[in-house]
Amino acid sequence: MDYRKKYLDFFAAKQHAIVASASLIPENDPTTLFTGSGMQPMVPYLLGARHPAGIRIANSQKCFRSGDIEEVGDNRHTTFFEMLGNWSLGDYFKTEQIAWMWEFLTREVNLDPARLYFTCFRGNEELEIPRDTESAELWQKLFSEKNIVAKIVDFSDQIGMQGGRIFYYSEKKNWWSRSGVPANMPIGEPGGPDTEMFYDFGEDLELHEKSDWAAEHCHVNCDCGRFVEIGNNVFMQYVKTEHGFEQLPQKNVDFGGGLERITMAAENQQDIFSTELFRELRQSIETLSGKTYGERAAETYAFRVVMDHMRAATFLICDGAIPSNKDQGYFTRRLIRRAVRMGHKLGIENNFSEAVSRAVISAYVAAYPELKIKEEQIVSDFVKEENKFRATLEKGLKVFEKQIDEINSDLNKMTGQWLFDFYQNFGFPFELIIEELKSRNFKLSDDQISKMSGDFSSVFEEHKNLSRVGAENKFKGGLGDHSDISVRYHTATHLLHATLKKVLGEHVEQKGSNITPERMRFDFSHNEKMTSEQIAEVEQLINAAIARDYPVSFEEMTVDEARAKKAIGLFGDKYGEKVKVYTVGDREAPAEADPTAPTYSREICGGPHVTHTALIGAFKIIKEEAVSAGVRRIKAVIE
Ligand code: ALA
Repeated sequence: MDYRKKYLDFFAAKQHAIVASASLIPENDPTTLFTGSGMQPMVPYLLGARHPAGIRIANSQKCFRSGDIEEVGDNRHTTFFEMLGNWSLGDYFKTEQIAWMWEFLTREVNLDPARLYFTCFRGNEELEIPRDTESAELWQKLFSEKNIVAKIVDFSDQIGMQGGRIFYYSEKKNWWSRSGVPANMPIGEPGGPDTEMFYDFGEDLELHEKSDWAAEHCHVNCDCGRFVEIGNNVFMQYVKTEHGFEQLPQKNVDFGGGLERITMAAENQQDIFSTELFRELRQSIETLSGKTYGERAAETYAFRVVMDHMRAATFLICDGAIPSNKDQGYFTRRLIRRAVRMGHKLGIENNFSEAVSRAVISAYVAAYPELKIKEEQIVSDFVKEENKFRATLEKGLKVFEKQIDEINSDLNKMTGQWLFDFYQNFGFPFELIIEELKSRNFKLSDDQISKMSGDFSSVFEEHKNLSRVGAENKFKGGLGDHSDISVRYHTATHLLHATLKKVLGEHVEQKGSNITPERMRFDFSHNEKMTSEQIAEVEQLINAAIARDYPVSFEEMTVDEARAKKAIGLFGDKYGEKVKVYTVGDREAPAEADPTAPTYSREICGGPHVTHTALIGAFKIIKEEAVSAGVRRIKAVIE
């Protein structure tokens, strides 16, 4: 059964515009590396900007959560997932949303109401945000229509379920914003209380290795695995300000539910990887390895990692995160390398990535047609990375051989640091080193192995913490902190795009952009290195356009009208019928990328932008380089 389609049809019938998934790589959002929820691309509209498709929107959004890489392997964690989402942008609120979700879950997905549990926000006096009794009572009434007495309980850690079916939790569980609990939210960030929906798989969790359900103290929100969260209704009605929380100009609904988890519940299947969604991928790995998923517990972990990582990497490459040593591409590389190693455990030696990535594409192409368009590029990037990694492994084995001689049977020389360096340089995981030692007849006692493993882990943890701190510093702060500078950079990308077409030729197309508070990056199609004259000319034109202080404004129009007005940027029907078109200069005149003309640029874009170009400041290109065949990258700063 296709629950993605059921969901979208359900909300289309309730007058929602169904919009396409945004990229996994957020455009112009300095706060995060990946799109991890359906609401991320919706932030400007939740804050009050008008969405061209209206005030009721729904979609199925590709999401990736890099923080979950290490969690993959159990019955329910994945790094990539599809989030079904619907939004009310200042339109309907709690009453409609709760009734619709109930209808969707119990009628469309056909879940037994007796297996459903809900949580609501307890309220917080200090924040002056009241308890969400309205949601709790709405759920309770829906249960009573099914003759189920649903007790509402104020949850306390000490005493477990207390016979409850609807629970109040604090902001640690029932508050949602991109940055988590209220205390962590930057000024300007939207958030709100939420009500979450859980499915009960029952106390008997055969398939769940970590199962430790304990009637005395477990509860719907704990980690025992009995209850799985299948959806979250956020009532996005507040914004953090210097003086605490204030109401947003409109009351929004932001619903997000994992398609995979809804499917688990619908199939009453405790193992996410056994659901219909993974069928083609599972079969492909079974064929390659000659093994059957689920037959031998020892292989289950490897199967799951391969399924999750290959699926995620396929989508990441499709959206431009090509395997590399930095930024998003680093995660793609990690995923593929780990998948290749786990494939090795299953006995797959060759032709791994091509077959598996094609299986992913085939399973998802109907919902995400971009996979078909980029199929050959995706497969070739995969194969390249697999080959590179296999070569590294081979090289590593040679170095290993040599170092083993030097160590001369003295395992004390294999310190945690040594093991970690080997892992870093050659991708040799700890278990592989032990396997190699054993195959060279080293006598290793269990004590020795566990000491080495402990040493390795502590260096590994240290490193992980260091890089986490680094990542947090790089990406900390929300739009609130940096909105001003980000918006200035964003308008500068429009000037740059138009100017490059003027200076280098009409073949120039934007291939990607990324903005942090420190700089902007702009990728575009062009075959040669830019000359220093061209760079100087681009800078000079842009600075003249800034100095002229053009007004910046937008209009909404159909894609055809935008084409007729020669707007540049991404066409495609991203937002259904209507798109926003930003003009730098006079909205009536043709755009010329000439600072003496009335109009400098016209581009399809969601915004936001500065209102006048003089607000941008001085523009300077600091680097021009190749990214891949036919694609160049400019790094620039504004001062
Ligand atoms: N934005 C909410 C979430 O990600 C729905 O859970």
